[in-house]
Amino acid sequence: MSKFYLTNAIAYVNAGPHMGHALEMLIGDALTRYHRMIGDDTRFLVGTDEHGSKIAQTAAAQGVTPQELADKNAALFVDFHQKFNAANDDFIRTTSERHKKGAQKLWKMMEAADVFYEKEYEGLYCTGCEVFLPEKDLVDGKCAIHLREPELLKEKNIFFKLSNYTDILREKIESGEMEIRPESRRNEFLSFLKEGLKDVSFSRPKSSLEWGIEVPGHEDQVMYVWCDALSNYLTALGFAEDDALVEHYWPADVHLVGKDIIRFHCGIWPAMLMAAGLPTPKAIYVHGFVTSEGQKMSKSLGNVVDPMALLNEFPMESIRYYLLREIPTDEDGDFSIARFKAVYHDDLQNTIGNLVRRVVAMGLKYLDGDVPVLEGEHEAIEVCRAAYHHGFNSFDVREACDAILELARFGNLRIEQEKPWQLAKSNPEKIPEVLSELVAICRHLGLFLHPILPEASQKILDQVGDRPLVMGEPLFPALEPNE
Ligand code: MSP
Repeated sequence: MSKFYLTNAIAYVNAGPHMGHALEMLIGDALTRYHRMIGDDTRFLVGTDEHGSKIAQTAAAQGVTPQELADKNAALFVDFHQKFNAANDDFIRTTSERHKKGAQKLWKMMEAADVFYEKEYEGLYCTGCEVFLPEKDLVDGKCAIHLREPELLKEKNIFFKLSNYTDILREKIESGEMEIRPESRRNEFLSFLKEGLKDVSFSRPKSSLEWGIEVPGHEDQVMYVWCDALSNYLTALGFAEDDALVEHYWPADVHLVGKDIIRFHCGIWPAMLMAAGLPTPKAIYVHGFVTSEGQKMSKSLGNVVDPMALLNEFPMESIRYYLLREIPTDEDGDFSIARFKAVYHDDLQNTIGNLVRRVVAMGLKYLDGDVPVLEGEHEAIEVCRAAYHHGFNSFDVREACDAILELARFGNLRIEQEKPWQLAKSNPEKIPEVLSELVAICRHLGLFLHPILPEASQKILDQVGDRPLVMGEPLFPALEPNE
């Protein structure tokens, strides 16, 4: 049994969850459930990133303390994971004691390796990115992502000698010791490394930002929020006090992140670990961004889709299916209500739901539900199985979904070819053979769907998993009254 430790990026708590968070949560959840299903000793971590100037400024604007804002929004993220049936083992908050102590321990381990120095620094800070931006990255004086002018900061900071790690990181990536998927993102980061990594400010003076974890031995400084946040992947394993889980699960097998935070995960984080003498992650998987009705989701465009509001209108698993099947796992993809309804109707109701309902109905009608188990291998099932595992093992959950859908289409085709209702009159002896093939297909659909749609998977197995077959409620009811 191999172990599989998967982490998602921890979300900022300046606001509640959006569709980007939903996409990442679901990809992580599907990978987790897949690895559990194949027997891996799997651990899945999610959480919230609660310090830094973004949170401090949002709280000030709302007239609450940063802790109050963090408590309110972290609760929304916990609820969001529960409502989407996420299978996370833990939820780390960076304002928790276990995290603060762990982050300070990691800092001290890095300090012992002499990787820090102090410097008076003047730079342009983007609160949206929580990063100092080099002037060459600005577009018309603004951050290219947040379209806002960065703040000019002049202060004493502690710097991390990140520039020491350019070559060793390149070697780790080129040799495959640290995998970056997809290939396009690996190439993007390798070409970024060609410029050479620059040292990075790793602390902020409390005089300009109080909301952070105190730097051990420097009570006038708090940790840079990315240094604080990245360490969550270790602190959640009990790094501060108890080594058992760290020894068992570290290094992480996969850090799942969005395309905007590659440099932190492929550059700063492994360098921090190397400085502290700890093993680096085995892989970083990078997903794309969800757009809304063809445009970047943004508050000013008024097209931000709130996944919790969608839950009030549509079945939870219909949203899971859309994000996992319609958005390419490693590229950008779009959310539109029209497409969402079409996919629910075509794939779930008409293809999968209809097949299972027809097969169970015919099994009950012609054989009292007692359909013999199919003997031997079945070609279409084996083709599906191969593509399904390939998809999950190559960071392509969509390929796995496609394989399932193909098998369901094949099942529907077999019904049309064999026409059991005609066989019942012309050649009833053939009915057990035909239905045993169809039931085998449905059973496999039930099994394969588990990581994608755990509830529908269970409902299918309740109907076709055993002899006799059992007729259940429709798997995918009509989207009334909003259809
Ligand atoms: N707090 C940092 C991550 C720290 S990890 C040590 C952060 N938070 S975030 O809330 O802005 O983003 C959380 C995750 O959601 C990131 O992986 C980010 O890339 C992803 N997404 C944010 N917007 C997104 C979309 N519109 N679409 C898909 N994912 C997006 O970054």
